[in-house]
Amino acid sequence: MDPAQKIMRRCDALGKISEEPGCLTRTYASASMRRANDLVAKWMREAGMKTRVDAIGNLIGHYDGNKSNAKILLLGSHLDTVRNAGKFDGPLGVLLAIACVDELRRKKVRPPFAIEVVGFCDEEGARFQVPYLGSKALAGCFDTRDLGRKDAGGVSMAECIEKFGGDTARINQARFDPVRLLGYLEAHIEQGPVLEQKNLAVGIVSAIAGQTRARVTFTGRAGHAGTTPMNLRKDALCAAAEMILAVETFARNRAGLVATVGEIFARPGAGNVIPGDVQLSLDVRQPKDKIRRSASRALEKWALRIAARRKLKSNFVIVHETAAVSCSKKMSALLKEAVGRSQRKSAVLASGAGHDAAIMAGITPAAMLFIRCKNGISHHPAESVKTADVRVAFDVMTDFLQLLAAKYPNSVQRLERNL
Ligand code: HGY
Ligand code: MN
Ligand code: MN
Repeated sequence: MDPAQKIMRRCDALGKISEEPGCLTRTYASASMRRANDLVAKWMREAGMKTRVDAIGNLIGHYDGNKSNAKILLLGSHLDTVRNAGKFDGPLGVLLAIACVDELRRKKVRPPFAIEVVGFCDEEGARFQVPYLGSKALAGCFDTRDLGRKDAGGVSMAECIEKFGGDTARINQARFDPVRLLGYLEAHIEQGPVLEQKNLAVGIVSAIAGQTRARVTFTGRAGHAGTTPMNLRKDALCAAAEMILAVETFARNRAGLVATVGEIFARPGAGNVIPGDVQLSLDVRQPKDKIRRSASRALEKWALRIAARRKLKSNFVIVHETAAVSCSKKMSALLKEAVGRSQRKSAVLASGAGHDAAIMAGITPAAMLFIRCKNGISHHPAESVKTADVRVAFDVMTDFLQLLAAKYPNSVQRLERNL
């Protein structure tokens, strides 16, 4: 079995580790995350790495370089998933990284830098609505106020971390020292149609779109569905329904803007009770931060107008914001050279999806390699990639490591400066 076939088989195995029967859902600090970490740690050790789990739950494999004080090149992606997920979003990047290290082990190669493969513990934010918990901890920008956030079952993030075996008091020590780092490379499915349209197996990411995630609440008055006349109602769910369509119309009329309501919680949630309190999620993205921020402000005003007209109250809280991030030009140039060895031409494309690379770019040069996925489908069980494309990605990444080592064999300072 070649490395690409092994990676596909491992994606299948990981795809079966879920907290929901009949579909793939693996959220932060869950029992299924623990099982996934244990399996991936085994594969890391077989690839010659020493493994550890940090205070927030990131799984990290270390492969020594050819000197003890060598700088560290980070590779990896996330091991958590959305609900009812596909099996490649996240895990494919971690397994490609492990396969590249295994190839170095097999060839008995020690590069002039150490390699750490990271399986981030929470990129999607499915459990606590705030994404990037793992990469924020490694980048030193974890917001300890989030420890008080509660999941759908009312359990706080702090309790989950402690139960998972993490240590909330040491999360800030999980931070990588930027001086020790050389850079971060993440391989990830494209989650879009561009590579398929260009008939290319892989592409290089130029930038990662910024995102705003908010919670919009409408508060009316619960009441009896049978006895409350329509003109006396303060129905929070009708207000929310108006808001959901307003979000869609607003984004449809603005090129480059996407806005999504993915979650809705109506309370008390009984068929014969007028909903008194409804909470919506709101996800707003645009390549330009200024446009994204003004769009989320405009949508906040829209919620206020709907509430005022219906004599309800509304609340709009931004729970997470990441700015758009450009990938490292130097690392991407090296990646382009590596792609050129495996593919007749290379596409450069922006990412509408968020990635841990957007956070890691805050402390070290970051680059991303996209892999074609069928019909651009993602965040869905139909997510799929071809083994042949994974083989190209593997060849590109192993060439990238060789180029990185060959170009700067001894001078780590030059390496850092040039990156
Ligand atoms: O939501 C995203 O863009 C990513 O899949 N977390
Ligand atoms: Mn992802
Ligand atoms: Mn995702």
